Amino acid sequence: MSSYWIQSTKNLKLNEKITNNYETDVCIIGAGLAGLSTGYYLAKEGINVIILDKDNIGQKVSGNTTAKITLQHNLIYDYLIKSFGMDFAMKYFKSNKEAISNIKKIIDDENIECDFEYQDNYVYTTNQDDITKIHNEIKAINSLNNILNLNEKDIFADFVTSFNLPFKICGAIKVKDQAQFHPLKYMFGLSKAIKNKGGIIFTNSLVTDVKQKDGVYTTYTDKHFIKSKYIVIASHFPFKDFPGFYFSKMYQSTSYVLGIDTKSDLFDGMYISSDKPTFSYRTAKYKDKKILIMAGGDHKTGYAPDNNQTGYNILEQEAKKYYPNCEILYRWNTRDCITIDKVPYIGDFSNLMPNMFVATGFNKWGITSSNVAANIIRDKILGIKNEYSKIYEATRFSPIKNAHEMKNITSQVLKSFVTNRIKIPEENLSAIKNDNGGIIKVNGASIGIYKDINGKVFAVNPTCTHLGCLLTWNNLDKTWDCPCHGSRFDYTGKNLYDPAFKDLERYE
Ligand SMILES: Cc1cc2nc3c(=O)[nH]c(=O)nc-3n(C[C@H](O)[C@H](O)[C@H](O)COP(=O)(O)OP(=O)(O)OC[C@H]3O[C@@H](n4cnc5c(N)ncnc54)[C@H](O)[C@@H]3O)c2cc1C
Ligand code: FES
Repeated sequence: MSSYWIQSTKNLKLNEKITNNYETDVCIIGAGLAGLSTGYYLAKEGINVIILDKDNIGQKVSGNTTAKITLQHNLIYDYLIKSFGMDFAMKYFKSNKEAISNIKKIIDDENIECDFEYQDNYVYTTNQDDITKIHNEIKAINSLNNILNLNEKDIFADFVTSFNLPFKICGAIKVKDQAQFHPLKYMFGLSKAIKNKGGIIFTNSLVTDVKQKDGVYTTYTDKHFIKSKYIVIASHFPFKDFPGFYFSKMYQSTSYVLGIDTKSDLFDGMYISSDKPTFSYRTAKYKDKKILIMAGGDHKTGYAPDNNQTGYNILEQEAKKYYPNCEILYRWNTRDCITIDKVPYIGDFSNLMPNMFVATGFNKWGITSSNVAANIIRDKILGIKNEYSKIYEATRFSPIKNAHEMKNITSQVLKSFVTNRIKIPEENLSAIKNDNGGIIKVNGASIGIYKDINGKVFAVNPTCTHLGCLLTWNNLDKTWDCPCHGSRFDYTGKNLYDPAFKDLERYE
């Protein structure tokens, strides 16, 4: 179940595992959008960079995204103004607006063919009760835009009551000149540009630790190390827990995506609902036509998807309402880090680790945010003041003013710590059906069991190798998922997703 983006770029893989020790200026961990964008800007400045990834280029979240390049992060600006004030919201708006043109500039400068196209973006509601939120957001966006363009006073965000999707809405916010692209074609283009500028990229090279001594960092892989003055942790969920404590201020949310041949002409534009359940739509070039990329069905990572409300089912049912003859060509899912205050963590990893930087917590809007992060981190390394760095400060712990949001988010994070540690599900081996999994107790110890379709048993220790939470069985993907911070493992115990990077203990 890999994405359309991954399947359509299989031939572009970069296989260069680290086989020596190195010294460099900056060592970047992670070759997703955040790591590659940072590497690109640094290499462009003539700085020596080495990027390490445990997988291939962009095979994790960035290769499974929906890849809309927009400053409209669903409903965000009214919330930011009310929670943090006008100046804060304006910086968020401006940094993401600039990120769209920065990405376009990279594509033009480096001649990257990645199906980039400008599109109007819509945030819509089908619920009359949510119309006030839509109007408030329009007011917020336009007021921020007017501060930036004092002479122009243009209407940047428009209210519309109809659009190109085949269903009725109560209202939508339309913002012009947003964009979409093929994220992996872009990332392979970035990798080529980094290498042309002297940067080095190693794939299939898992980083197991980073240590600091006398102002020099050593990044360890299984057999080799890299010494550097600067470190950038762009591993999505930071694989290093201390002293950053990111596990205490983020959780992960999974969303599902379908690539659909609708067997009919498709629309222009990119769309996302503001009300729940969330549905997101865009199109993508596919052979000589377009396919529909539809996403949604989200749930907190580590909790089994509810077949009616989450996962592929809800997407498929919705798609078939409008395109009864459609064919589902691709199905995939991925997840992203959600921060307590909805703002990414970008900048110093911890006040105790000088020259170590982090880019994470993109709240499912990492295409522009990773570009913002790359600019901030480059400027920190070059010693240049960046007007946006303050609002994204990763070491922040300031309480937010929006009490309602704070309560919601905090309760979700707390739930992830508490519930699964105390509620231990019990089943016995014969109760687990073929092609299913669960936890059984043997002599008081919990054992995670998966029985394949022929009844062959795969047994693992269902204790997460990150910080020890009890894993839950996800029968949709046949994976062990962690409800605490969202690590995932396949049924054989192999680690699939961060923040854990070690496999589960296996039993005969
Ligand atoms: C379903 C979905 C749809 C989305 N759609 C959009 C969208 O339309 N627009 C938008 O703006 N955003 C979107 N996002 C968000 C966006 O895709 C992500 O925020 C972004 O791709 C994250 O990039 P990243 O570089 O931080 O992470 P990744 O792409 O996951 O990169 C991290 C890399 O680090 C590597 N790594 C991890 N640990 C180690 C280690 N120990 N050693 C070596 N390497 C390591 C991984 O292999 C990986 O390649 C979406 C997210 C989801 C879940
Ligand atoms: S992901 Fe943190 S304990 Fe599992």
